[in-house]
Amino acid sequence: MTISRSADAKIVQRSIVGKGIAHDSAARHVAGEANYIDDMPELPGTLHAAFVLSPVAHGQLHGFDASEALAMDGVAGVWAAKDIPGHNEVGPILHGETLFAEDIVDHEGRVIAVVAARDFETAYRAAKKVKLDIETLEPVLDIEEAHRRKSYVLPSQEVIEGDVETALAGAPHVIAGKLRMGGQDHFYLETHIAYAIPGENGEMLVHSSTQHPTEVQHHVAGILGIHANAVECQVRRMGGGFGGKESQPTIIAGAAALVAAKTGKPCKMRLKRRDDMIATGKRHDYIANWKAGVDNRGRILGLDVEYLARAGNLPDLTGPVITRTLTHTDNSYFIPNARFIGHACKTNTVSNTAFRGFGGPQGIITIEAVIDTVARELKLDPNAVRAVNYYGDETGDMTPYGQQVEDNRLVEVTDAVLGSAEWERRRAEIDAHNAANPVIRRGLAMMPIKFGISFNLTSLNQAGALVHVYLDGSIFLNHGGTEMGQGLFVKVAQVVAEVFQVELDMVRISSTATGKVPNTSATAASTGSDLNGMAAFKAATAIKARMTRVAAEHFDVEEDVIIYREGRVHADNRSVSFGELAKMAWAKRIQLSEAGHYATPKIHWDGKTMKGRPFFYFSYGAAVAEVAVDTLTGETRCLRADILQDVGSPLNPAIDLGQIEGAFVQGMGWVTCEELWWDKSGRLRTVGPSTYKIPGSRDVPPEFNVRILDNMPNREETVFRSKAIGEPPLMLGISVWLAIRDAIASIHGGVPQLDSPATPEEVLRAVRVAQGG
Ligand code: MTE
Ligand code: HPA
Ligand code: MOS
Repeated sequence: MTISRSADAKIVQRSIVGKGIAHDSAARHVAGEANYIDDMPELPGTLHAAFVLSPVAHGQLHGFDASEALAMDGVAGVWAAKDIPGHNEVGPILHGETLFAEDIVDHEGRVIAVVAARDFETAYRAAKKVKLDIETLEPVLDIEEAHRRKSYVLPSQEVIEGDVETALAGAPHVIAGKLRMGGQDHFYLETHIAYAIPGENGEMLVHSSTQHPTEVQHHVAGILGIHANAVECQVRRMGGGFGGKESQPTIIAGAAALVAAKTGKPCKMRLKRRDDMIATGKRHDYIANWKAGVDNRGRILGLDVEYLARAGNLPDLTGPVITRTLTHTDNSYFIPNARFIGHACKTNTVSNTAFRGFGGPQGIITIEAVIDTVARELKLDPNAVRAVNYYGDETGDMTPYGQQVEDNRLVEVTDAVLGSAEWERRRAEIDAHNAANPVIRRGLAMMPIKFGISFNLTSLNQAGALVHVYLDGSIFLNHGGTEMGQGLFVKVAQVVAEVFQVELDMVRISSTATGKVPNTSATAASTGSDLNGMAAFKAATAIKARMTRVAAEHFDVEEDVIIYREGRVHADNRSVSFGELAKMAWAKRIQLSEAGHYATPKIHWDGKTMKGRPFFYFSYGAAVAEVAVDTLTGETRCLRADILQDVGSPLNPAIDLGQIEGAFVQGMGWVTCEELWWDKSGRLRTVGPSTYKIPGSRDVPPEFNVRILDNMPNREETVFRSKAIGEPPLMLGISVWLAIRDAIASIHGGVPQLDSPATPEEVLRAVRVAQGG
């Protein structure tokens, strides 16, 4: 047990927060007893919906003929843009992003209409029978082509600091490069789903697999042309979200609610994997063109980076994604003169969206490629080049976007991971191995991360929670965060149990619901426990303060004598149970319920100058990865990974370890095996597990040492001084790509020409270049 540093002095000992407690649904997950939306008992008369999707990437939509579909037995109807009673809108930030295409289809998989039938298969068969009248137009599929045409979905963004031109002109070495990095499909186990249930007097209840219930509520109301107070969105859990369910669920929930409103019947809509993959967005693939001016030690004097991001057909969340790329291009390094530009390229491909890291991975892999290239060009040790560039006293602590790095843990974290990974010994061994083995090459790499925590849109950094204490001493907890497997619910429940010093099972975790906690932000940007944990802490603390007054009166002592411990409330050697105190408070007509609200302090951001303090704090981490590369087949394998991650004082270290492992493997998938492939007409051909390869259990490094940085409370006042964990370690997966580069560099001692993902084809290509062939 550790002594509490909480703002609430009454918590003398931490008994629940900080413990490695299993996910509240762990046993139910593995037993198949955790209920997802598709497991809910269906109400009588439930209809099932399927989309009519554009088969072409670009075309003029003249209309469609649904007569054959409508004539099918069991088909209830077909609806499209003109049938919407309210607005045809689902944009998360901007107006004009439509649910149903109106006159243009602008990507393969663009939603044109929704068909409903008495069962799932009939709905899908009927959707295929809808005859589309589309005049095909030439698609723009290439982001460089879009850039040449200056075809963007949003104005370009720039982070500028100092004077790059002068820095490059005066630098002893100027090194340039181009990096292509692929996108990534979320491949959550549960595809998008919604179940809309019409109520009386125009009400609509929507169960949605969403990270953002408020946005579903808002857009369902808009589509139906009713007030938000007539719509409730609920979600108990998702089978994974990874950012893919931050903005996209409105498409599915909007269509299901439209059918329910039109027919008066409940409507369930679940996407088949293929439809999920072609109709909803992914991680943005990018091209980065960079030029760095460095001194003889590899210290960066100036860095110029131009990013071309694939926005797809419309903006969605591309604006803030690019902002995060530009605010993570520094990663852990002080860059005195910077010009980072991001273009949101418009292409006839599905609109890309949030994905774990939210633009951060693209920025971080770019600077890591810069560092790696600079080191190899100058024949320096890449880790030495990293070290001379770290933020710190010798360099500086100001980021190019104007936030000071106040909580720097880079040297601690990287030194520790180099030590525990036995870098020196293994480096020598691997070099000796490579000298003797021309075919199977080994590679080793270390990288740090610094990841900014907070939504980069300041207004989103708020949360609400609702806590009730019942008369038997049991506690009901609700908050605006959603559960997608990341363990948010158990963490927030731990916070509440800690405040009241009761057993965790006295706190009932409940479905997220817009009727209980309103106007919430998406559970995203890794802020779920920071925001909702703090809102719940405030609600519970307020109830506790009222109960403490009752206890002090009862025992006739000062309030500061009252201590909560192990389900009881003590005054010296006398005590009552927590439930007895609840009953006493009720008898005195004291409110035992509270709504808490939290807004992150200190943050501000000016989107025009691209300066400010967008992040409340930074999370740090470092990884060392070792790979083997087969130079005849291009196959790669990560043999060992060592990770050290800063999580502040963790709310739940067991959950955090799971997050680190999962995020690392997902990041490794992004840079190695996951490849999205469109054909020349713009049709996605990687639409399921047989063609789109995510890492499997056998891709997990056989030696996988994951550690949490000990005893490092957050210096900012977060809930119990914890730090966010959901996204940062994904970027540690980039170390595997760097290790593959290291293995390839061993062939010729030069700069590997490797893009991401390093699929076997890409590795073979880079190996051939290195072999001079
Ligand atoms: N972990 C699991 N198991 N499933 C998920 O979908 N999403 C990630 C991360 N970890 C995800 C996950 C993403 S993209 C984010 S932003 C955070 O969880 C969101 O939850 P948090 O803010 O509570 O960490
Ligand atoms: N992360 C996730 N979602 C967001 C963000 C972010 O930084 N900003 C706006 N939406
Ligand atoms: Mo996570 S990409 O912020 O949902």
